[in-house]
Amino acid sequence: MPSDARELLEVAAWWHDLGYATGLVQTGMHQIDGARFLEDMGYPNRLVALVAHHSAAKCEAHERGLVCELGRWDREESAVADALWMADMTTGPRGESFEYSDRLNEITARYNADSIVGRAMTAAQPLIRGAIDRTKDRVAG
Ligand SMILES: [Fe+2]
Repeated sequence: MPSDARELLEVAAWWHDLGYATGLVQTGMHQIDGARFLEDMGYPNRLVALVAHHSAAKCEAHERGLVCELGRWDREESAVADALWMADMTTGPRGESFEYSDRLNEITARYNADSIVGRAMTAAQPLIRGAIDRTKDRVAG
């Protein structure tokens, strides 16, 4: 991965859950709320879109009726996006390393499997597994 792409990935990884910050909540969907803030602050559209769409956000947008709002940003399909999703979905809330299946179990236990997030994360499984598999393939060369 080129150095500029690695830098973008690192920044996106730091900022991807920014929308959970209490003062930034607008829609209640952290991916969109974080993206709106970054956009308002003038950050590059590519970074904003990566945050908006991280970890199959379209599944949660569907659950929340926010598909049109999320559609303000194009979803990037790339090594950077895949690696961001993999990092998010294999790392716990305290920085723990997880296999994806364990991370999914952790999320559904924390939010409840029948919550908006639980249903979205369950529906997102094929998309997230795809991103993880592609990233592992890229790393393996
Ligand atoms: Fe997130």
